[in-house]
Amino acid sequence: MIGLSNFNIAILHNDVPPGADPSEDVLDQVDSVVKCLSKLNIGYTIVPVGDEITQSINTLVSQRPDAVFNLCEGVYGLSGLEMNMAAVLELLRIPYTGSPSLSLGLCQQKDLAKNILSANGVPTPKYIVLTDNEVYSLRGFKFPLFVKPVQEDGSLGVTGENVVWNRRQLTERISYVTKTYKQPALVEEFIDGRELNVALLGNNPPVVLPLEEVLFVGQEKILSYNAKWIRASRSYEETTPVCPANLDADILKKVEEVAILSFRLLRCRDYARVDIRLSGNTPYVLEVNPNPDIDPNAGYAFSLQAAGLSLEEFVERVVGYALSRKDHP
Ligand SMILES: Nc1ncnc2c1ncn2[C@@H]1O[C@H](COP(=O)(O)OP(=O)(O)O)[C@@H](O)[C@H]1O
Ligand SMILES: [Mg+2]
Repeated sequence: MIGLSNFNIAILHNDVPPGADPSEDVLDQVDSVVKCLSKLNIGYTIVPVGDEITQSINTLVSQRPDAVFNLCEGVYGLSGLEMNMAAVLELLRIPYTGSPSLSLGLCQQKDLAKNILSANGVPTPKYIVLTDNEVYSLRGFKFPLFVKPVQEDGSLGVTGENVVWNRRQLTERISYVTKTYKQPALVEEFIDGRELNVALLGNNPPVVLPLEEVLFVGQEKILSYNAKWIRASRSYEETTPVCPANLDADILKKVEEVAILSFRLLRCRDYARVDIRLSGNTPYVLEVNPNPDIDPNAGYAFSLQAAGLSLEEFVERVVGYALSRKDHP
């Protein structure tokens, strides 16, 4: 791509208070985007989004960047407000990288995203949303079940105890999730199978990058909070990402089709990651992540690497996608 050096890109990110939860820490991603833009000789400014939200908006209005690199994962520490910052950019008519506000909002509400997927023939675990003290029927459900917060990310609230084997355990876990995360619990059938992270890049159609498989060698066969973030934990040690995953061609094709369809149905844009589990040969979509973590140590970067793409090339591409929406942001 030529001529990007004349543009000014604002890197927008949520401000991260000291001691914040590792799943909220976006600063490593900011650092790597800064490095990439510098190498590409593209001008940039960094615009943090803190509690004084009008300050960030005023900066954007006065700077009028050509595009925003959107790394804003929430506002006021609430991931539920991730979509709102993208919506502000839409109102300001500033083109930005990644998925539109609608997609960010839909995918955040896992049950709504699953409704759209299943209504369109994409396999996703059978589910019910429940709150503490609610009377429920489990007709048609088979134990074990998996309980998780309905609108969290980064495996927040995910531990081995989320796999439940009977009604008593289920009721306890729903109560725990509801009270701890102040939101309903998503109760799903547990998919006991291989776990795949499917990275997609581009639009019309997006390209599926080499798949990452998460291998579990221990007892706990889920990507729990510890397995994802706590390096000193046993779960972290017992979880190994492998990229590219070793899959039969026919299964690979099915997984790719399901991932592309999910990307489209949930109105993702530029880049996304679809989390899938295989049950036999059926790929079940657990969730879709628009604007996934692009930290060099995260799954998306492994898929880029396996595709022979550097982070720099990735940044150049997505900035190019945003700039191409200049006249209709
Ligand atoms: N229905 C399920 N069956 C089996 N494992 C699941 C199920 N739902 C979630 N998990 C496990 O929990 C992890 C986190 O769940 P996910 O829905 O991807 O939420 P997050 O947004 O926190 O990444 C998954 O990567 C997977 O290991
Ligand atoms: Mg996930």
